[in-house]
Amino acid sequence: MTQPEVVRWGVLGTARITRRVAPAIHAAPSAQLVAIASRDVSRAKAWSEKYEAPVVSDSYEALLARDDLDAIYIPLPPHLHAEWTIAAARAGKHVLCEKPLAVTADDAARMIAVCREQQVHFEEGVMWYHHPRTTRIRELLDEQRLGEIRKITSAFSFPWQSTVDPENEYRLKKEQGGGSLLDLGWYCVGATLWVLRQTPLTVFGQQTPSTGVDDSFCGQLTFSDGVSAAFDCSRQLTSRRWIEIAGTEGSIVCDDFTRPWNEQKCRFWLHDKQGAATVFETATDNQETCLVENFSRRILSGSPNPQDGALALRTQQVIEQLQNSAASGQKLSLD
Ligand SMILES: NC(=O)c1ccc[n+]([C@@H]2O[C@H](COP(=O)([O-])OP(=O)(O)OC[C@H]3O[C@@H](n4cnc5c(N)ncnc54)[C@H](OP(=O)(O)O)[C@@H]3O)[C@@H](O)[C@H]2O)c1
Repeated sequence: MTQPEVVRWGVLGTARITRRVAPAIHAAPSAQLVAIASRDVSRAKAWSEKYEAPVVSDSYEALLARDDLDAIYIPLPPHLHAEWTIAAARAGKHVLCEKPLAVTADDAARMIAVCREQQVHFEEGVMWYHHPRTTRIRELLDEQRLGEIRKITSAFSFPWQSTVDPENEYRLKKEQGGGSLLDLGWYCVGATLWVLRQTPLTVFGQQTPSTGVDDSFCGQLTFSDGVSAAFDCSRQLTSRRWIEIAGTEGSIVCDDFTRPWNEQKCRFWLHDKQGAATVFETATDNQETCLVENFSRRILSGSPNPQDGALALRTQQVIEQLQNSAASGQKLSLD
């Protein structure tokens, strides 16, 4: 049997974030946007016209039952990620699921386990991991340009928009996966684990709840050999999205790691021991397109890797323990 040359994509739900991902599926050479499903068929039709998806499904089940789709993009609210990832995997479809993976670490573990059992590829929707700038940062870390990495500090915040309707906003509902830690802290925790490739020994979290979910969250993580990390995330501060990776010989500072402020000018700084800074400018590829293309190529190239989803699952486990720490006021260890 000949291998297909493109991955045929279906999308579950007409979420806001699809304004970035639908064009990315069109732009990725190994991907083809085929179908959209919505709870409301008129919304799906409008979306299909806007984003040129030829097939409209009037339910998520109907879309998953189609045999002309290979991969499903799931940009639903977090409390629905487990249900629909598992349904998609059981329908034999590869899954790109938005962050946060789930509301609980148990759900996240089930999602990854079912994808592995069903032999389908899995990827989380964190775009910055796929940007060429991130690849350049990894090269410098692997070349030990910072010496031994000892400390990672990061922040992600933005001011909450007063136009949001609280009744219909999952980000304000704890049981639906709301709160700043799952929404924004996900990036800081993920970045820390991505840099260190280790699980923390202990975590300590503090939250500021004022709307029933954590509007702001600070976390501290300790790793073996005295390596540590700290982050804060908030929806009550100005826009910040920076990371500093500090080693014994130098540090990397990126002031917009989750998404370049100016997508045509992607850069970060390497500071040496004396503080002299070198600016690294990198390719400006669209990170959503990179994610879709990387994932589609992985699908086309064959069997899933058993490590698929491992970083996302670890991120969820660390976040859950940070939530437990904030609730108990205790520093907690990871199992
Ligand atoms: N990676 C990134 O850069 C990034 C950025 C923003 C958001 N996200 C993630 O993407 C996901 C979606 O976020 P968003 O802000 O785009 O979501 P959103 O605009 O609120 O859309 C969620 C969609 O889910 C569907 N849905 C099904 N059941 C629902 C329910 N009970 N309540 C609300 N919606 C329901 C709806 O589509 P239909 O009604 O059409 O079925 C809705 O349009 C989240 O996990 C979020 O964290 C990622």
